[in-house]
Amino acid sequence: MSQTASDPWPSSIRRVAFLFAMSAEGTGFARRLGLEDHGNLDPSLPAHWLSGSIPGSGGGSLEVAVGFAGSDPEHRVDRIGTVPAALAAHLLIRRFEPDLLVNAGTCGGFKARGAAVGSIYLGSRAFLFHDHRIPLPGFDAFGVGRIEARYPEELLEVLDAEPGVVSTGDSFTPCAEDLEFFAAEGVHAKEMEAAAIARLARDHGLPFLAVKAVTDLVDHPEPEHEAFLRNLDRVSGALEERLVRLLGWLETRSESRA
Ligand code: ADE
Repeated sequence: MSQTASDPWPSSIRRVAFLFAMSAEGTGFARRLGLEDHGNLDPSLPAHWLSGSIPGSGGGSLEVAVGFAGSDPEHRVDRIGTVPAALAAHLLIRRFEPDLLVNAGTCGGFKARGAAVGSIYLGSRAFLFHDHRIPLPGFDAFGVGRIEARYPEELLEVLDAEPGVVSTGDSFTPCAEDLEFFAAEGVHAKEMEAAAIARLARDHGLPFLAVKAVTDLVDHPEPEHEAFLRNLDRVSGALEERLVRLLGWLETRSESRA
């Protein structure tokens, strides 16, 4: 669902925080913006962040932070999934105090719903959890989340993105019940962080966007993880271009309302 008149998108956004789960998804973006590395968000956690001031074409500027869940010191891989993402997002919000939180990254898409490798989705309608199965009154709905997604409609054009239902879970490989859930809910993007961050953003009263780029097709015979590893760098590069467009749009918008 896009922004409604009763709960308008903030007229001026000057501080934007991006949260990535994987280093490969966001390092190019942070480098391109020339952000300063501030190290860890908390001395006990591998989550880390960078920030800087990005000048706009009209003389104004945006303050931008980029946070990462960080690398697991024991297994030496990125800490993907909901818990590290929510922790990193919370710390980043406290440290940077953004006006807007963006979760950007990769996802599995669905050929049956028109996706191809490289398709870009802007999280729409609601953010779901597909693997929170809690058959207890009230907790069932809490488990699925259904956290409302909102954005100004013109953002779809700015990002050249499709509106898509994003569903989050902590496994890369889907089980039969997950597949049933995707079909029943018409899910477009299966990933591992967005709904957890969407809920946190709502707790903080922050507008939230999820921009997700398809690396693999969940309903295609090739195993998702093989396509994911092959396409990760290329698709992350395409994602970077869209995020730069988002910054340009935010900059122009806040200047025209200054
Ligand atoms: N990220 C990219 N592809 C994914 C998939 N198929 N499942 C979960 N997260 C993903």
